[in-house]
Amino acid sequence: MGFRRWRRRDFDLACGLWADPRVTEFIDARGKLSQSQVRERLAQEIATADSYNIQYWPIFLLSDDSHAGCCGLHPYDLPQGIYEIGFHIRPNYWRRGFASEAARSVMEHAFKALGAKGLFAGHNPRNDPSRLLLAKLGFRYTHDEYYAPTGLEHPSYLMTVDDYTRIKKNGGSCQDDQALKAELNAQAPRGGG
Ligand SMILES: CC(C)(COP(=O)(O)OP(=O)(O)OC[C@H]1O[C@@H](n2cnc3c(N)ncnc32)[C@H](O)[C@@H]1OP(=O)(O)O)[C@@H](O)C(=O)NCCC(=O)NCCS
Repeated sequence: MGFRRWRRRDFDLACGLWADPRVTEFIDARGKLSQSQVRERLAQEIATADSYNIQYWPIFLLSDDSHAGCCGLHPYDLPQGIYEIGFHIRPNYWRRGFASEAARSVMEHAFKALGAKGLFAGHNPRNDPSRLLLAKLGFRYTHDEYYAPTGLEHPSYLMTVDDYTRIKKNGGSCQDDQALKAELNAQAPRGGG
């Protein structure tokens, strides 16, 4: 899997991702995004990269260069060294480990290359796949937080640099650390259905 930056001429790829209502179901209350809303989303990602050198980078399969989705970072609380991590995968590629693999690359980049102190993540309370993915990656539930694009309180999580160091020591997954896994399972909210 490879990452690069979004370009203005990537509109067709952006439509293949964000104009698919299965992708936006839990991340945008507007439902299926129109072409102009997708164009705006693409422009926002490009602007975030221009300003902060981060974005939800598009990801591609190295085997055939096909577009699998995006995964990356947005600013969250930069004075405290905290970035937000996110992942949007095209439905044809769901359940093939791409979000996990991409997220682990982004976590490594955030903590090692950018010197992040922490990563924030949140999900729609009905988004069970996202909740399970965050638990698998080793994110710790901290609180519920209002998320304007859905108008809902989203279960929210943090991974500190110490959490990350501990997870890495255990082979890159909290599933290899039974004590940490039990602790995270005890803290994780169950969501609304
Ligand atoms: C959530 C999402 C990113 C998962 O992507 P993915 O590439 O399918 O995830 P992976 O294959 O890496 O799965 C990792 C883990 O997530 C969980 N998971 C993912 N999809 C799941 C599903 N449909 N049902 C239950 N668990 C699921 C599982 O724990 C899985 O581990 P396992 O395969 O060992 O059981 C993808 O469904 C998606 O892009 N959804 C639309 C956009 C979105 O909601 N993004 C999250 C915003 S917070």
